[in-house]
Amino acid sequence: METVLSGIRSTGHLHLGNYFGALRNFVKIQDTYKCFFFIADLHSLTTHPHPDDFHANVRIILSEYLASGLDPEKCCLYVQSDVPEISELCVLLNMISYVGELERTATFKEKVRQNPDNVNAGLLTYPVLMASDILVHRANWVPVGKDQEPHLEIARVLARRFNNLYGVELFPEPYAFNFGKDLIKVPGLDGSGKMGKSNNNGIYLIDDDNTITKKVMHAVTDSGPTEKNSTMSEPVANVFTLLRLVSDPKVVAQFEAAYADCSIRYGDLKKQLATDICATVAPIRERINSIHTDDAYLSKVVAQGREKARASASATLKLAQQAIGFKTF
Ligand code: TRP
Repeated sequence: METVLSGIRSTGHLHLGNYFGALRNFVKIQDTYKCFFFIADLHSLTTHPHPDDFHANVRIILSEYLASGLDPEKCCLYVQSDVPEISELCVLLNMISYVGELERTATFKEKVRQNPDNVNAGLLTYPVLMASDILVHRANWVPVGKDQEPHLEIARVLARRFNNLYGVELFPEPYAFNFGKDLIKVPGLDGSGKMGKSNNNGIYLIDDDNTITKKVMHAVTDSGPTEKNSTMSEPVANVFTLLRLVSDPKVVAQFEAAYADCSIRYGDLKKQLATDICATVAPIRERINSIHTDDAYLSKVVAQGREKARASASATLKLAQQAIGFKTF
């Protein structure tokens, strides 16, 4: 069985973009692939979260992952810092990573531009840690967005370089996992671009009905169609994209027809969208709220994940150490 692996940095709540773009698909593949899903708390340290938030953020993502349907019996769900083998492999991979290639990485250059006062070495070696996450389980597939492609490329380079240098076939080269027709870009409510944490245009799985409704009613649209069968502007097309995710196809068809013959009222469209998003989010939110305070359940899940992840990771680490030439006395 091939292995799929995905990590998420622990920085705040999950939004509908995370849910429809990734999580819902993760839930579907839990039976078909050997799956590792983890919370990248070490990666989140590049931005120095306050100690009070550091653990709280892990708990949030963990609860929201579980509430969305990830099943710890089917997949391996764990916290990155619980698996010291990842950091150990990272030290080894650092030795075959070149400063020049890390400095040239598009994501690093972007961070330097955005944050010239915090160019820490962890930022430079971020892709090496990410490669360690992936290679430590010898994962084949990594469901990531386009923004993470440069990191995945580095993971492939390091896998190849290690195998060549030590004459082994230890690490398979990991590739981006494509959900095919299930792949959807979830747009934000601000008229352009995708839903994202930093864009302040999202609906969160934790949002209550009131908050969701307010956000949807404020979604950007336009002044309405004036000619029959005209193409939609981007903001209106985005509202329809969201509607297709949560509403009955018949309802979507009705609004499409109303748009085409110019009888549409955006107020009605948004009301419908708000109602259907609320219906999608409410059961997830209720599960988040009960899981989030269930210490016994969370610690059981984390312990189970840690054990499975460490078993897999330590087997790989041992083989890497052997290849390099470590020997016990
Ligand atoms: N860098 C990823 C992001 O910001 C998170 C991440 C860390 C990750 N380690 C990973 C993703 C390993 C996939 C595989 O989205």
